[in-house]
Amino acid sequence: MRDDLKNLADIFYLRIVSPGNPINILWVRKTFREMDMVDENIEKFADLNAPLSREVWYYTFLRAFEDGKLDVYLNRIKEITGLPENPKIDEILESLHLRYLNGKFSQKIFRVVVLVSGRGTNLQALIDAVENGMLNVKLVAVISNKKRAYALERARSHGIPAIYIPAKKGEKRENYDKRLAKKIDEYTPDLIVLAGFLRILSPWFVKKYRNRIINIHPALLPSFAGLYGENVHKAVLEYGCKVSGCTVHFVDENIDHGPIIVQKCVEVRDTDTPETLAARVLEKEHEALVEAVKLISEGKIVIKDRRVLTKR
Ligand code: GRF
Repeated sequence: MRDDLKNLADIFYLRIVSPGNPINILWVRKTFREMDMVDENIEKFADLNAPLSREVWYYTFLRAFEDGKLDVYLNRIKEITGLPENPKIDEILESLHLRYLNGKFSQKIFRVVVLVSGRGTNLQALIDAVENGMLNVKLVAVISNKKRAYALERARSHGIPAIYIPAKKGEKRENYDKRLAKKIDEYTPDLIVLAGFLRILSPWFVKKYRNRIINIHPALLPSFAGLYGENVHKAVLEYGCKVSGCTVHFVDENIDHGPIIVQKCVEVRDTDTPETLAARVLEKEHEALVEAVKLISEGKIVIKDRRVLTKR
């Protein structure tokens, strides 16, 4: 179980074991039933009429967390025990994407801004994943440097603010990025996704959003870095690679270089053309991007040097 979740469970447990507290295993069973989370094990613990051990308590936290109902569970507990005082609680809640506001716990919705320049099939994969419940995030805005990017249409038709920010003639990279950042900040995102955004970002921008920008690249980095579009797949074929794929990575000051979050492979077939290979890689891109956003939004990764590790 994750340390932050365990710590939160401990903070509440200290209140729960206090004398005169009605929280026991039967209360937990009743509460889980009320939360529409009938859990086989909790039913079993209750049948045994076992005391509420710390392990069972941890288990209930984990179950509620995995079902995205930890906020509901905490509110129910708080009705009985009150809110335990602990200087670390805000920090722990933050890492679990929860917040405590106006006397209530709630799930903090993870906010994502997507930057695009083109057709937006990767954006569409994110929209679909949000709409089918696969991703618990809010796509708060889609921004393009190209007026005619079809991605803007996709955003609009799904009720997502679609914003066009053209570069001015001769404008310095950093100046454009400052205008871009000003707009982005209006949406207070937790994450910025580059989904086919055909501009290089300045070191100023990268530093401002350090470890909060991700990019999707249609090859297995570090191979074929710096290329884009059809050129990547052409280069893969010309080199004679037998596998290709895609990479989702954090953005740092170097092009196609930051720590790798997700990679997916496809085989290269003898009959492949840049177009057929691109199409197969694109399917994998859609999966990889959703997977990466899911991992980050659920707070499941840590960055250690170049390695992105999954929290246990
Ligand atoms: C994708 O191939 C992506 O890897 C690259 O740009 C392309 C964007 O495609 N960075 P789409 O606009 O998401 O369809």
